[in-house]
Amino acid sequence: MTAPPNQQPPIDLLSGWPNPALLPAPDLLRSATTVLTTPSIAHPGLLYGPDEGYEPLRAHVAKWLGAFYQPCNPISSGRICITGGASQNLACVMAVFTDPVYTRGVWMVDPTYHLAGRIIDDAGFAGRVRGVPEDDEGIDLAFLKSGLRAAEEKALAKGNTEPKFKPHRPWRKIYKYIIYAVPTFANPSTKVMSLGHREDLVRLARKYDALLVTDDVYDFLQWSPTPGGKLAAPEHACLPRLVDVDRYLDGGPIDEWGHAVSNGSFSKLLGPGLRTGWAEASEKIAYGLSQVGSSRSGGAPSQLCSTIIDQLLPSGTLDNYIQTVLQPAYSERYYALQGAIQEYLVPLGATVASPETVTGGYFIWLTLPTPLLAVDIVQRAQQEENLRLAPGTLFEAGSPQPPSDRFAGCLRLCFAWEEPRHLTEGVRRLARVLKHALE
Ligand SMILES: Cc1ncc(COP(=O)(O)O)c(C=O)c1O
Repeated sequence: MTAPPNQQPPIDLLSGWPNPALLPAPDLLRSATTVLTTPSIAHPGLLYGPDEGYEPLRAHVAKWLGAFYQPCNPISSGRICITGGASQNLACVMAVFTDPVYTRGVWMVDPTYHLAGRIIDDAGFAGRVRGVPEDDEGIDLAFLKSGLRAAEEKALAKGNTEPKFKPHRPWRKIYKYIIYAVPTFANPSTKVMSLGHREDLVRLARKYDALLVTDDVYDFLQWSPTPGGKLAAPEHACLPRLVDVDRYLDGGPIDEWGHAVSNGSFSKLLGPGLRTGWAEASEKIAYGLSQVGSSRSGGAPSQLCSTIIDQLLPSGTLDNYIQTVLQPAYSERYYALQGAIQEYLVPLGATVASPETVTGGYFIWLTLPTPLLAVDIVQRAQQEENLRLAPGTLFEAGSPQPPSDRFAGCLRLCFAWEEPRHLTEGVRRLARVLKHALE
């Protein structure tokens, strides 16, 4: 006897988590064993670390990123600061490089990674976050430009010309604005910002003295959007990060600080429980990050994990894992979800983007047939089909209350957590929900 739909096993297309089968526990076990049985590694690993992070990992991350992004000049380890992951480091960026008054506000590409909002609120910017709409090339620059111009005029009229609460320190610069984006395989929309927009965005940041903070956490998870297709170079990034653009554009950075910081993370590559990532930026910014109060007191976060992860870089284990396990596994899941959407949801009037050359990340952003509302569908899916989904309203920058209707007809579907067959089954369940709702 089959279970009634609402008592079926749950299917979770909400959580942006890696499936446990994709966690490289055996590799980590080998690394941890080496670390803990080698006193010259175990002792520094178990003690307070340097503020900038475990030096061998900084050097190896610098080399590894250089091979993947191929920036105009090699990446020095001085450009790398080890972090507790992208979330933790966003908090550090806000703590070191913003002043709650002089920094006029935060712009977030909208829809945005929703959990970044709380971190920005914690830094004193609640109510001063503004969304910048995405366009086909990833960000509506005209909108941002006119917003920045207006904000600047207002700040100058108020005499807001120097930091109020953050005294001068040699390791920091206070920026006038923070602009937050996920330029490659964005969470939630999966969009990739074009190179032209990346360059114009860096120009804008320089003009308005804004710091671009990008969560570049999905860049390595890329594949052809066509089943059976192959990327020409899956071992290289599809586009330079904003931090790379800032190094070459118009003769290079306009001061020694630069205007971009890249937030990288091992969460989506090795496991979020490791709580380890890196920031890359100018050497001044990387050092400034390391001087955040909590690192001055405790040393860089995730010191022991840094020693363990470090074992996986020079040996090529991490690259091999990304190319032979993660890229094939995530692309399989992506094709399963896309295929099911085309088969079951598109005939009902749902739409999704069809990337042409490259795609990646963890998500597919789906627009429901009108007049359906995502909050209603999410509730019905849970009640009728034991299916978890994320409504588009969750991803509105600035969390307006009540939410506007910008993403009211959208759902974010994650393909990282469930097995491919459950992805197909999840979409079948969603199709039943949509049919009922459309009746
Ligand atoms: C855009 C984005 N930034 C940051 C994170 C969290 O990264 P971390 O685990 O390194 O804090 C996620 C995880 O979903 C994400 O999607």
